Amino acid sequence: MTETIKCILASEPQPGIVAEGWLRTTRASKNVVFLELNDGSCLESLQAVVEASTPGFAEIAALGVGSAVRVQGDLIPSPAQGQRVELKAASVEIVGQAGADYPLQKKRHSFEFLRTIAHLRPRAKTFGAVFRVRHALQMAIHRFFDNRGFIQVHSPIITASDCEGAGQMFRVTTFDLDGQLPKDDAGKVDFKRDFFETATSLTVSGQLEGEIFALAFKNVYTFGPTFRAENSNTSRHAAEFWMIEPEMAFCDLRGDMALAQDFIQCIVMEVLERCGEDIDFFDQWIEKGLRKKLEALVKSSFEAMTYTEAVAALAKSGKSFEYQVSWGADLQSEHERYLTEELVGRPLFVIDYPKEIKAFYMRQNDDDKTVAAMDLLVPQVGEIIGGSQREDRLDRLEAAMDRFGLDKQTYWWYLDLRRHGGVPHAGFGLGFERALMYLTGMQNIRDVIPFARVPGSAEF
Ligand code: 4AD
Ligand code: MG
Repeated sequence: MTETIKCILASEPQPGIVAEGWLRTTRASKNVVFLELNDGSCLESLQAVVEASTPGFAEIAALGVGSAVRVQGDLIPSPAQGQRVELKAASVEIVGQAGADYPLQKKRHSFEFLRTIAHLRPRAKTFGAVFRVRHALQMAIHRFFDNRGFIQVHSPIITASDCEGAGQMFRVTTFDLDGQLPKDDAGKVDFKRDFFETATSLTVSGQLEGEIFALAFKNVYTFGPTFRAENSNTSRHAAEFWMIEPEMAFCDLRGDMALAQDFIQCIVMEVLERCGEDIDFFDQWIEKGLRKKLEALVKSSFEAMTYTEAVAALAKSGKSFEYQVSWGADLQSEHERYLTEELVGRPLFVIDYPKEIKAFYMRQNDDDKTVAAMDLLVPQVGEIIGGSQREDRLDRLEAAMDRFGLDKQTYWWYLDLRRHGGVPHAGFGLGFERALMYLTGMQNIRDVIPFARVPGSAEF
């Protein structure tokens, strides 16, 4: 394996090196061709200078953008502006030609267009930066939890229970959908004859399994793909997205919020340190002031208010929202954005939501009206974290499940946990792509995930 372009660009001038990559641009001038080589290892490209005396010069000069080459030569101090070192080519091997119709030419393409060529867009500059940051962020997340002694749980992807109780699940079955589906006595599809002998779906969240492990390992987290068949075609919803869900035993809502703040600040700090060049790129081209925003986030503590206070603030704002706000209604994205962007101007926890609009597992507060829930809202993106203290009292939990019309049989093990050594516990879920949108300034979730799964589209 040869060295990456990132390593080469950081090294001292030296003879006899080999660089491999794809051409970002080529530029001919008199008897010289300048090749810009990129291999995704960093934002910058390595300039290779090829003189007319180089074997195969005519062919090299005719190479199109996107072609793959291997260049051998001496790394020398660059006489020109713009780079510290350059590669004086002794030989150029053409590894893979790109056709003249290669769609990624040297100009700004719209993100909408780039989505239609998701097999080539990782080679575009912006997407190189996005996916390097994506990698750095997931490493930072694992490091954060590992440093604090959290155990990672691999929660299942196929499940028979609906964690959020919202019925937005993708069915998993081996039934022949073109044939006759087996029916039970009541005339309904008989999943007892399906692969798992019960109805199954792709998970919407690993939380319930996370709770099982938290009640044995104290502090755990999941990090995996989750799936939601919500037909909301927005810039912030994907049908398949990744979620990080820490769960802590002997912990209440305050502890949960403290961890969430520490978590967000630490992972942002690490990405700032490790991906400085990429963050500066986003700052220049995608969101002006991004670096300042992130540096401020790391330093100051987050704001917090109750749902009731939030509704009062919205009513007092004098803004005309598309959706009316009144106590008991869910906050819409326009409300969330007003609160975090205009009212407080930084990340904001909204806590203690009405119990009717939150999931069945959240712990009921003493007022009998609200639950110990928390959403973390951030400017531009809105909700990036949803979490809560869990209902640890069996009778309350059963009553909530009845209220939501959930089948207690399916959740027998979840209820059983409250019978054997149950303790106060709490956790939250961070939407990985939402966090990436916040970190990069990218405005559409389709542009921070390698291959987006959204309503009407599962290509690539
Ligand atoms: O608020 P949610 O639905 O919470 C849960 O799933 C809990 N089980 C988490 C927990 O307490 N362990 O989802 C958590 C986060 C949201 O705040 C959002 O960032 C992200 O997941 N999210 C989505 N991201 C992209 N596309 C979607 N369709 C999303 N739905 C939720
Ligand atoms: Mg939520």
